Amino acid sequence: MRTLTFHIFRFDPQLENDQPRVEQYQLEETDGMTLFIALNAIREHQAPDLKFDFVCRAGICGSSGMVVNGTPVLACRTLTSQYTDGHIHLHPLPGFELIGDLSVNTGKFMRALSERIGAWLHSHHEQSISIHQIEARMEPAKAEAIYELDRCIECGCCVSACATKAMKDEFIGAVGMIKLARFALDPRDSRTSKDYYEVLGNENGVFGCMTLLGCQDVCPKNLSHQTQIAYLRRQMLTAL
Ligand code: SF4
Ligand code: SF4
Ligand code: FES
Repeated sequence: MRTLTFHIFRFDPQLENDQPRVEQYQLEETDGMTLFIALNAIREHQAPDLKFDFVCRAGICGSSGMVVNGTPVLACRTLTSQYTDGHIHLHPLPGFELIGDLSVNTGKFMRALSERIGAWLHSHHEQSISIHQIEARMEPAKAEAIYELDRCIECGCCVSACATKAMKDEFIGAVGMIKLARFALDPRDSRTSKDYYEVLGNENGVFGCMTLLGCQDVCPKNLSHQTQIAYLRRQMLTAL
């Protein structure tokens, strides 16, 4: 067993005189230790006020995103053993409101983004709610393609990895494009390519994306951002 050294960003914006800093904590590594286990041990024995987020511990809820040794990851799915020199540097995801230490408000960001880009099913037809109409037939391949994009857990890792987003606050980012691609694929959505062009056909949408695919490199659900960005760009062409 070895001793790990954690270098953890500490700052509580709610405290009047608090200053951003990095503090060190040492911990004996155990078999199969994840960052979730390590952070809980540090909070229990060394830093009772340390803030970080975990809910599911299984890569499903999207709440445990943080920057580990320079890369955005889901901390609950990250083993300490992969950091061979035993030094683990933890920072909150950039691009989101800081709650404190390693905790950021991704929920507020995702909700505002969804409202701004209209990330819900739009139908021009009034639909009465009936148990017989809730399910509709769909081609299996189409349903699978939609389901694939619905696997996004809104963790925010792609937002933090995006240089364009760092430079342009209004850029909708990879998660915004994934959300719109999901509805553009859906035959129940009445929006046309022209409607999507209004939201996406500018420098804050697909034309601002540099396609260097930092988003795809860090996406813990392995979503194919490259394919979706290309799909949306083709959609934009049909709108002209
Ligand atoms: S696209 Fe991937 S990295 Fe981005 S929010 Fe969704 S799951 Fe996270
Ligand atoms: S390809 Fe690059 S610029 Fe485009 S959303 Fe992904 S990280 Fe951002
Ligand atoms: S705790 Fe839910 S994704 Fe990590």
